[in-house]
Amino acid sequence: MRTSLPIHQSRSPMLHNYWFKQHNIAGIYIPLAVKPDDIHTALRALPALGFSGVNLTIPHKQTAMADMAEIDAVGRGIGALNLVVVRPDGSLFGTNTDAYGFIQNIRQLQPEWRPDAGPVVVIGAGGASRTAIWALADAGVKDIRIANRTHERALTVAKALGAPLTVHRWDERHDVLEGAALLVNATNQGMIGQPPLDLRLDKLPKRAIVYDIVYNPIVTPLLADAQKRGNPIVTGLGMLLNQAPPAWKAWFGIEPKVTPELRAMIEATL
Ligand SMILES: NC(=O)c1ccc[n+]([C@@H]2O[C@H](COP(=O)([O-])OP(=O)(O)OC[C@H]3O[C@@H](n4cnc5c(N)ncnc54)[C@H](OP(=O)(O)O)[C@@H]3O)[C@@H](O)[C@H]2O)c1
Repeated sequence: MRTSLPIHQSRSPMLHNYWFKQHNIAGIYIPLAVKPDDIHTALRALPALGFSGVNLTIPHKQTAMADMAEIDAVGRGIGALNLVVVRPDGSLFGTNTDAYGFIQNIRQLQPEWRPDAGPVVVIGAGGASRTAIWALADAGVKDIRIANRTHERALTVAKALGAPLTVHRWDERHDVLEGAALLVNATNQGMIGQPPLDLRLDKLPKRAIVYDIVYNPIVTPLLADAQKRGNPIVTGLGMLLNQAPPAWKAWFGIEPKVTPELRAMIEATL
């Protein structure tokens, strides 16, 4: 078993197995470290193995698309899947619930936020950024500014998503915060083992919400800085928690609750 794959750090087994117990369903959610070359074989084996479905994480979110009989508009729009459902006839259906998790998290933690509140700045252009941008555009945000260390990657995201995006150079990231209503860190900076995101907040309005997709630690250096200057914050764990109930809806027709107890249980492991 390869320990370098991110699956071993996943909190998803704890989350889903909590619900199996709570709903008295004889099921189990297990981490499976599948090598990139084996993903197609692994997915095609799911019906025979009796799986209801799987979640996908890096590096399989895009390559798995080739194995789906059907992908919905969300999965196609984001260009990546996090959820596979094995249908009764054994065919595979793919979608993405991360975008729902992203929006649901801000709606829960900052319920007064509105998509028309003003410009949104997204830092980063990886998978999490794509998801956040798609979700924001889908929610109705009309002005999304993106800056990424590797400029070409930001241009690729803008081209792929066709969302209301303006791409800014990395050295413009501090200035582009001017007038923003929401700032999203969609890089891995600030995560445990990584340096803090290199971003000056002085141009960011004090009323702007600061949302960090990184959830380990819960309060990242960026969020601590934002709190110090009085900005409202959104921590990243709720995105992970909220992408999971729609998966249960698709697999079992049940929509489990993200309870404070569940949140505390996961937080205690971070
Ligand atoms: N809360 C949740 O549910 C949730 C869901 C998904 C992901 N996440 C978190 O989101 C983060 C990003 O994940 P991802 O899947 O998008 O990863 P990814 O596709 O590898 O993208 C990483 C991003 O971080 C940027 N970056 C890396 N090192 C940097 C540095 N030194 N300075 C500035 N930018 C840097 C990259 O910029 P370049 O393009 O220049 O390399 C890229 O934009 C991770 O911490 C992940 O755990 C959280």
